Amino acid sequence: MSVLNKKIKFNNGEEIPQFGLGTYKLDDEKATYDVIIAALKAGYLHIDTAQIYGNQKLIAKALKDSQVPREQIFITSKIWNSDHGYEETKKAIDRILAELEITYIDLVLIHWPTPKRLECWKALEEAVAAKKIRSIGLSNFQIVHIEELLKNCQIKPVINQFELHPALQRKDLVKYLQDNDIVVESWGTLIRGKCFEVEQVKVLAEKYQKSPAQICLRWAFQQGFVIIPKSSKPHRLIENTEIEDFALTAEDMALLATIPEYRDGPDPDNFDF
Ligand SMILES: NC(=O)c1ccc[n+]([C@@H]2O[C@H](COP(=O)([O-])OP(=O)(O)OC[C@H]3O[C@@H](n4cnc5c(N)ncnc54)[C@H](OP(=O)(O)O)[C@@H]3O)[C@@H](O)[C@H]2O)c1
Repeated sequence: MSVLNKKIKFNNGEEIPQFGLGTYKLDDEKATYDVIIAALKAGYLHIDTAQIYGNQKLIAKALKDSQVPREQIFITSKIWNSDHGYEETKKAIDRILAELEITYIDLVLIHWPTPKRLECWKALEEAVAAKKIRSIGLSNFQIVHIEELLKNCQIKPVINQFELHPALQRKDLVKYLQDNDIVVESWGTLIRGKCFEVEQVKVLAEKYQKSPAQICLRWAFQQGFVIIPKSSKPHRLIENTEIEDFALTAEDMALLATIPEYRDGPDPDNFDF
């Protein structure tokens, strides 16, 4: 079975394909269209987008042209920070549905934990009741934000997507999520393309005759994290899925844990909302 067919169950009974396609910075019209078509052809079943990426209409066009049935594809989108009021979020959900030309979204995340996150969550819960969204979750939430949400929600979040890779292992947050039956999703798994510069990753790439990208993806995949590597190059879409013919040992994992901590994106604790 290809990694693309492996699914993880949410705490609400729905399932998410563990391997998806990230689409941040895919906004050039032709390149985005071509890469989505190539991904669907290669068997990708899960696409991660967001309002702020500005590519939802392009994804809709590619999905339509591919003729892959809508219900076979898992689509995640995210509510951008400026839409985090209750009324604003309700409008944003309808905009996502319209841009993607679909009648339900598989998963919608709060993109960052802004001060209006609870109002945003309430609107998301109502959209689940209205069957506009199947599952709702979080992105870039820290433990403190999740604890607050769990005390104030009707529907428990199914997932938290945050920067997570061998150079930023977030063991405290990963354990907290696992203890609370919330799926862990990694963004930036390839250290956003910088995996080629990391000595420990290069050593394992040599050992297994794999690329540094495959080592980082394997690191996340074998721990059960959802991964959404982005590539604009069709051949890399395939390369990134070829991670099931080897496994990292406990020793390999320990080696990766020696990488000095490095965060590429914004720190949720110091984000200027
Ligand atoms: N929730 C959030 O706040 C948040 C933040 C950031 C990202 N995300 C999501 O997570 C996805 C993944 O994160 P990301 O795009 O930031 O970083 P990433 O997937 O770690 O890295 C993407 C970079 O790696 C390169 N790459 C991909 N496959 C490769 C390979 N096999 N060999 C060499 N280079 C390779 C890509 O270049 P090419 O395109 O040239 O192949 C691109 O520059 C995003 O696309 C987005 O959907 C979410």
